[in-house]
Amino acid sequence: MTEQRTWGGRFEGDMDALTRDYTAGMDQSLYEDDIAGSIAHARMLGKQQIIPPEDADAIIAGLGAVLEDFRARRVVWRPELEDIHTHVEVLLREKIGEAAGRLHTARSRNDQVALLNRMVVRRAIDDCMDAAGALIETICTLAERYAADAMPGYTHVQRAQPITLGHHLLAYGEMLLRDRDRFRDCRRRVNIMPLGSGALAGAPYPLDRESVAAELGFEAVSRNSLDATADRDFVAEFLAACAITQMHVSRLAEEVVLWASAEFGFVKLPDGFATGSSIMPQKKNADVAELARGRTGRVYGELMNILVTLKGLPMAYNRDLQEDKAAVLGVLPVVVPTLRIFAAMLPELEFDFGRMRQASGEGFSLATDVADYLVKKGLPFRDAHGVVGRLVRECEERHCELNQLPFHVYREASPLFERDILGITVESALAARDVVGGTAPERVRKAAAELRALV
Ligand code: ARG
Repeated sequence: MTEQRTWGGRFEGDMDALTRDYTAGMDQSLYEDDIAGSIAHARMLGKQQIIPPEDADAIIAGLGAVLEDFRARRVVWRPELEDIHTHVEVLLREKIGEAAGRLHTARSRNDQVALLNRMVVRRAIDDCMDAAGALIETICTLAERYAADAMPGYTHVQRAQPITLGHHLLAYGEMLLRDRDRFRDCRRRVNIMPLGSGALAGAPYPLDRESVAAELGFEAVSRNSLDATADRDFVAEFLAACAITQMHVSRLAEEVVLWASAEFGFVKLPDGFATGSSIMPQKKNADVAELARGRTGRVYGELMNILVTLKGLPMAYNRDLQEDKAAVLGVLPVVVPTLRIFAAMLPELEFDFGRMRQASGEGFSLATDVADYLVKKGLPFRDAHGVVGRLVRECEERHCELNQLPFHVYREASPLFERDILGITVESALAARDVVGGTAPERVRKAAAELRALV
């Protein structure tokens, strides 16, 4: 098959089948972007009279026909043709003959693949941003709906202070907004056009790189041909943004798993998003959440993969760089579907508001509010903390909650207590946190509206 290779000239022997298979990449599905890049390149070559304009026209038309073949699944993949770039060129030659040989003028697969990968990552970023944006909007809707529904807030997985479910969900909305911003920021650096860098040193032709960039939607052209062909920091950045996003959803997933347990009993899983056990008929498992959590490791793994791949590479292109595509294509089926399924699942969760409200007032979760009561009467907070600590101990002995203590016990603890101390409730504790960023229901509603405006 030597004659089919694009680089067969200096080779006498055929490639060993083992080598062929070992060096194969993962780019079979990337024909849309690769062909779009080639069309832009051919158009520029023709306009600049680097190749005869009629050949450029034939190439552009032929590439359109090759694209149709790919879309209609008429292309049979030929492993001996190595990668998508070679496939497109050989298929083009089969369509238009000799003129196809001019397409690769002023281009190397090294700048071609850098272009392709930037286009792939750019599209992946857009998909991630869309999916994250949709999940944030869902969370805003739910936060408005649940703005006043109390639940225990935890630190150290110990009940700490009452919060509202809306407030809790909005925490994830904020995380995801930063995630989306990270993707957006990363996109600026991805969106640089590398074609014209050649194999590593640039190309000896009067290229119009800006026109190629404009046709393909790139912001600017790369300034250094070694950098443009040899670095993949944009892939590492993208994977880092993916890893952080997946980590955030994984934390929410962990909470869904906990909330759905009998021990918490905060949530009933909707049938559409739960699975059963093959042996225990009573079981309903949070498999969606568990797999979101479980697949997070794969995303982290691909980030580590690309960082390790890059760390020892001398300038410029090395074949190791081919591994970047496997990394990107490996995380996409995790991150985007995870974001999407959470946007579908969250509105279907059936919360047990009675149980959450009940739990939010237990475990002395109003202790801080009792201390704050004394502070408002003039006691330094540290002293108030001590007074309430003793009251909590008293409660433990009596097996009761703070608001079940008789008034005289309060009075003995501090003369500052008046009868209204017994009026401290979950609702008053929530309403009191009426500060920007606080859990007061009105603040939660405003925060949800503000977040929605940023999506
Ligand atoms: N399949 C290669 C990649 O993805 C394309 C570039 C190959 N260049 C080369 N000189 N072998 O990186």
